[in-house]
Amino acid sequence: MAAPTFPSRTDEILRSLQQTGQLKRLQTIEGPMDATVRLRGYGEVACFCSNNYLGLANHPDVVAAGIEGLKRYGAGTASVRFICGTFDCHERIEARIAQLYGVEASYTFTSCWNANEAIFPTLCEPGDIIISDELNHASIIDGIRLAAVIKKGLLKTVYRHNSVAALREQLEKARANPDMTGTIWVVTDGVFSMEGDIADLPAMRRLCDEFGAMLVVDDSHGTGVMGRTGRGTHEQWGMPGTAIDYFTGTLGKALGGGAGGYIAGSRAAMDLLVQRGRPTLFSNALPATIACSADKAIEILMREPQRVAKLRDNVAYARAGIREVGFEMLESQTAICPIIVHDTAKAIAMSKRLLELGVFVIGFGYPVVPEGHARLRVQISAAHERVHLDALLGALKTLRTEYR
Ligand SMILES: Cc1ncc(COP(=O)(O)O)c(C=O)c1O
Repeated sequence: MAAPTFPSRTDEILRSLQQTGQLKRLQTIEGPMDATVRLRGYGEVACFCSNNYLGLANHPDVVAAGIEGLKRYGAGTASVRFICGTFDCHERIEARIAQLYGVEASYTFTSCWNANEAIFPTLCEPGDIIISDELNHASIIDGIRLAAVIKKGLLKTVYRHNSVAALREQLEKARANPDMTGTIWVVTDGVFSMEGDIADLPAMRRLCDEFGAMLVVDDSHGTGVMGRTGRGTHEQWGMPGTAIDYFTGTLGKALGGGAGGYIAGSRAAMDLLVQRGRPTLFSNALPATIACSADKAIEILMREPQRVAKLRDNVAYARAGIREVGFEMLESQTAICPIIVHDTAKAIAMSKRLLELGVFVIGFGYPVVPEGHARLRVQISAAHERVHLDALLGALKTLRTEYR
């Protein structure tokens, strides 16, 4: 039988997604991201699916800094950084990110996806082993896979989600493995994006010290959110930034919401990334306008910890309300409140119904989460006022009567 052509194969995949209720449809927003957004076909709706945790995406100072950056530097240098692509605004934001975590240095990328594809292939070597939480973000998983392809002899394994006992088991196996001749790397999300739970960083640090391992934390959903001053999940646990060997993170969520990512940690590792990182050697820099707007967003975070406090209050209010409505919610103190509805098509239908009720919440199903674990992911922001949170709870109450 002849192999299917690309068009027929693609049609078949899309048809099957459509038939099983899994086809995603992009919603178009016709204005800035804020507590409410103007959504094509629905009008003004309360937004509970953005990572705009601190409400800085449309902050006038953040917007003005971006415009100023564009005027001062133009669109870019049309070059990668080591040739002629580094502006002084890159140096400024990298110093600012390092200051945020209290570590030596940082280096920026056009996304955290890129940062996670840079860190492992660049810093790890054959004979090392990377031990990763099974529910780590896709960019960590792909970064590790890429590293193992580029550096033949680099070992990798996963441990059961957020289980310190399972991590210890993998560390012991690694120590006993004769092919493991280099460095052990332990990698985790700070806040897990689909579960909303946090990594047990103090226990992980103790284990890493015991086994001489490096600890890498992607705190994309924790930075700006967790800890009294929003430094991240380590602060929530009362740890200094120096207790984590390397952070990766995004500028596309709490820290302005435009785009961009970074690695933060030792100066030596940043120097190595400049010399050897393929995304740093072969891809353009973070656009200057984003470097400037994100720099302003971090400055605001550092001088206005009350934004983090407001977010924390909003999270407590929303979580108490969701519990009262009676939905099955995964508990934590993070701004990610997953409501488990199990079935993918049901999650998508419920999300559509919420939009009709004026509330924008996305339903996530297979393959983003395992089969049978579909959910509505409600995300809380410091931009929300009580009126928005009450609109969410009112809509969920209606939904609850319709989906018993
Ligand atoms: C934990 C984590 N890491 C990395 C990323 C990717 O970030 P970016 O959008 O900057 O590529 C995300 C985004 O969803 C994330 O949740």
